[in-house]
Amino acid sequence: MAKLKTIAVITPGGDAPGMNTAIRAVVRTAIFHGVKVWGIKEGWWGLMHDNLVELATKDVSGIINRGGTILHSRRCPEFKDKANRRLAYQNLRAKGIEGIVAIGGDGSMRASQIIMKETGLPVNVIPATIDNDIPGTDYTIGFDTAVNTAVEAIDKIRDTATSHQRLFVVEVMGRHNGFIALDVALVAGAEACFIPEVKHNINQLVKLIKAGHERGKKSFIIIVAEGAADSHKIVAELQRRLNIEVRLTILGHMQRGGVPTALSRELACKLGATAVELMIKGGGGYLIGAISDKICCSPINKIYKAKKQIDLEQLRIANMLAT
Ligand code: F6P
Repeated sequence: MAKLKTIAVITPGGDAPGMNTAIRAVVRTAIFHGVKVWGIKEGWWGLMHDNLVELATKDVSGIINRGGTILHSRRCPEFKDKANRRLAYQNLRAKGIEGIVAIGGDGSMRASQIIMKETGLPVNVIPATIDNDIPGTDYTIGFDTAVNTAVEAIDKIRDTATSHQRLFVVEVMGRHNGFIALDVALVAGAEACFIPEVKHNINQLVKLIKAGHERGKKSFIIIVAEGAADSHKIVAELQRRLNIEVRLTILGHMQRGGVPTALSRELACKLGATAVELMIKGGGGYLIGAISDKICCSPINKIYKAKKQIDLEQLRIANMLAT
């Protein structure tokens, strides 16, 4: 087997705290083993437009604790077009790139699968998205940070909710799934939680709040994943049917930024190093995750269409503890 000489690293999807930590791990591991690394800037769009820079050890100094991605990112619908992908492949070939480490979510995994099929180049994917919706890993890089960011905000909201005896609907990210919402609801002690995986029932929520009121509860926090329901409509409906002031807070993109937590960084260091060392040994086409604290490499072609299941037992516990 010929020695691997040159790889590239890319962060093509939505950013997540800990991505920089992962870039650092990829670059330093590659250089440690004598492999040259190109950073592809601005995602797949940057690859199509030849926006690549060679990265040295010093280029990733001081980023282990920085949110965002130094490589920048950009949504790139143009990459769905095969002619555009051909441009991207020419740019890879021109630089002698023999493998890619993609740091991202489900979109990055799908694109990686196409690239491998069309070029034969190995791509290893490191799961990084605040959504935690990637199979083959218990947690994605950035998820723990986003949950902590949301919980910190909700703890503050609870102070004012209690003072004014109000109900707050707090919308968290998660367009297609409720992983953030469910974790946040459990650890912030929310009274209820709406997630896209479970059909919500507003009548039941009204009943629950009324029962809480009768037991002496004066304030309420309801967590809504952005993809579960229209939070504005929920607020209007609750305001109409309950004798309590209702307010809405949409946490939005603040959940995607900030200093990565120790857990997000630990995952990024370990998965980044493994993705490169596996490729050096000839292993390409894997999603590098961690299951029960053990690094676990799953073939992308087997899992890129799979859907990670939400833990409904956690929802049951959250609901039980909220009563
Ligand atoms: O994939 C991460 C995510 O933050 C989702 O939770 C959210 O729905 C989406 O990205 C927002 O994407 P954009 O920043 O492109 O609006």
